[in-house]
Formats: sequence, C-alpha cells, structure tokens
Amino acid sequence: MSLRDFSLGTRVVFGPNATDRLGTFAAEFGGRVFVVTDPHIVAAGHVDRAERSLASAGLEVRRYEGVRENPTSADVAACRAALGDWNPDLLVGLGGGSSIDVAKGCNLVRAGGGTMEDYWGVGKAKGTLLPLIAVPTTAGTGTEAQSFALVAQEDTHQKMACGDPQMLPRLAVLDPILTTTLPPFVTACTGLDTIGHAVETMVTKKRNAFSRPFSVEAFRLAHASLPLVLDDPDNLDARGDMMLAATFAGVAIENSMLGAAHSLANPLTAHHDLAHGLAVGLVLPGVVRFNSEHAEIAELYEGLARGARLNSVSALVQRLEELLDLCRIEHSLTAHGVPTTGVTGLAEEALRQWTAQFNPREVTVQDLERLLIAAL
Ligand SMILES: [Fe+2]
Repeated sequence: MSLRDFSLGTRVVFGPNATDRLGTFAAEFGGRVFVVTDPHIVAAGHVDRAERSLASAGLEVRRYEGVRENPTSADVAACRAALGDWNPDLLVGLGGGSSIDVAKGCNLVRAGGGTMEDYWGVGKAKGTLLPLIAVPTTAGTGTEAQSFALVAQEDTHQKMACGDPQMLPRLAVLDPILTTTLPPFVTACTGLDTIGHAVETMVTKKRNAFSRPFSVEAFRLAHASLPLVLDDPDNLDARGDMMLAATFAGVAIENSMLGAAHSLANPLTAHHDLAHGLAVGLVLPGVVRFNSEHAEIAELYEGLARGARLNSVSALVQRLEELLDLCRIEHSLTAHGVPTTGVTGLAEEALRQWTAQFNPREVTVQDLERLLIAAL
C-alpha cells in the first residue's frame, strides 16, 4: 500500500442566501477586497448583493467585471492591470468557473509577475498568494474546491492547467439561489460537466479511496437533480444538490484528475466553440463504452452506477444519453456544428491534453479519432 496524502482543504459554507454573509467571512482576512466577476453576473444582480454584504462589514471593495467565457491569459492580464498597485487583503472570485479561474490567475501573476503561461504546470507559484474566496454562480466546474485554474493561451486557445497548493480557495460560499437565474442551456451544460467530472474521476489512473466517495455521491446527486432543475429552475433543494454535486466532484478532481472525455472536449471547445459541458456530455457515453471494454474499469463504473441505483454499465451509459435528451441536446457533434472533416487534427490535439494521461485505459490518436467519429 502506498502513502496517501489527502486534504479537504477548502472551508465550505452552503445554503440559500449564504451570499448575504460574505462580508462576515471576508472580514476575517482583512479590510480590502478585490472582486473578480463578469458582466452577466453583474446584470443578474449577484455582484450588487455580494458587494452590499462586503460594504456592510466595513470592507473597501474594488471590482474587475470584464472576465470572458473560456478565459485566456489576456483575461488574467486585464484583471491584473485593473488591480494596478492597489494592495487588497483578499480576492473574491464571483461567477462561473471563468471568473474564479481568472481570480486564481490574477493571484498568481500579482504575487510572482509575468504572464499566465509562466505558471502552466504544477507548483509554479512564486511568492505568497492572497487568500481567495470562491462564490460560484453555476453548479459546474468545481473549481471552488480545486488548487487549479484552467486558462487558455490567448493565441492557440490551448487550455493550460495551472495548479499550486496556494491556489486552493480558503472558502467556498455555495448559495443555490445564485444558480436560479442561469439560462436553461447554461444549467444543462454545467450540469453535464459535473456529471462528466463524477464519471471520469471514478475511474482515472489516479483514483483512490479518498476520491471515490466524492465521485459516487456527486453522480448520485447530479443525475437525480439535473432533470429537476431543468424542469423547475426555482427548485432550491435540487439546485442545492447540484451545487453540492459540483463541489464534491471538484474535490474528486483535486484528488483523482480527469480522463479522455475532457481531453476530447478541449479541442472541440477551442476550434468549434462548443460549451465545455456540452462537449463533455456529447463524448462521455462513448468514452465510458470504450473504457469499460476492460473488465476492471467496468467494475469501477458499476460501483458508480450502483450508487445511483442503476444496475450495470449499460444502464449507466443509457442514463448519460437520457440526460442529454432531458437537456434537449442533440446527441451528435455535427448537430452542434462540428464538421466531419478535420477529425484527425482534433484527435491529435486531444492526445496532447493533460487529462489524456490519466484516462484509465491507454489512449492512442486512433482511439481518440474513433471516439470522435462515433460521436459525430
Ligand atoms: Fe469539466
């Protein structure tokens, strides 16, 4: 048996209206707060709400609200420039994975200089990072429980995984009310992303006794609750379960990494503009079929299936396909604008993704090409 080193790390505060207590939590870290967010979150009124709480705790607040979807190193540079020479005591990432990851990136370049590219990899932080509070407004990435930021290179759109123990948020504020304003398509895609995280972390090469319960519980909660929130966006219990599922899956990723569905998804997002969760959801059933051709991996998927009262790997795959239907999402990549040409290039790029090495079954370019063709 090998040595294990596992930490839950992030304090989690969970419940409706938790955002209204943000000021109390933030005051524990000092008097000046830099909020990183995006224009949609401002328009939804969530930033005002968070900043009211910060102001009522007597904190000085400045804000960067320019984060774009699928952020690049340019977003991190713009956020850093907006901070200027102001010295906050704390960063708050308020939004989807994009805003929280840009806050993490800004934290890195503020402390150590340079650009986001300088921090591509693990353990590259320089100096002392500021504490970060993550306030997710989607139930998706799980970045609130991770020491990694995913930021793309501005020119190539290649996703850079940048991780350092210092980047782990000190606190995650999970307020299901913030997710009730999401457009249905965003609820669907982020939910499919969470499900992809639960399924992939269950089987990766780095899976372990500590990540497994988080994968199983994340899948159990998300597969049951995603249809409920699609049906009734104001169902707070189901919204809460989706947020917990996303964070649990985030803990699983932190300890188990991801696999081939995420490797395949990144080039689809970079070149054909598919939302991340959509791309993951479309290729995931094929990846599960492919991996489960190996009996020992099939057994792991069965464990995940049993936790959700599904009794076999084929029932699991069927459920993944059914969830696409419930999200009103066409199953084929071509229906989402992916051409039938250029598949080899996408497969080559998928193989270069960081996550490919953690897939439980070795993958070649030909394997990835076949998976893409099957999903076309
Ligand atoms: Fe993902």
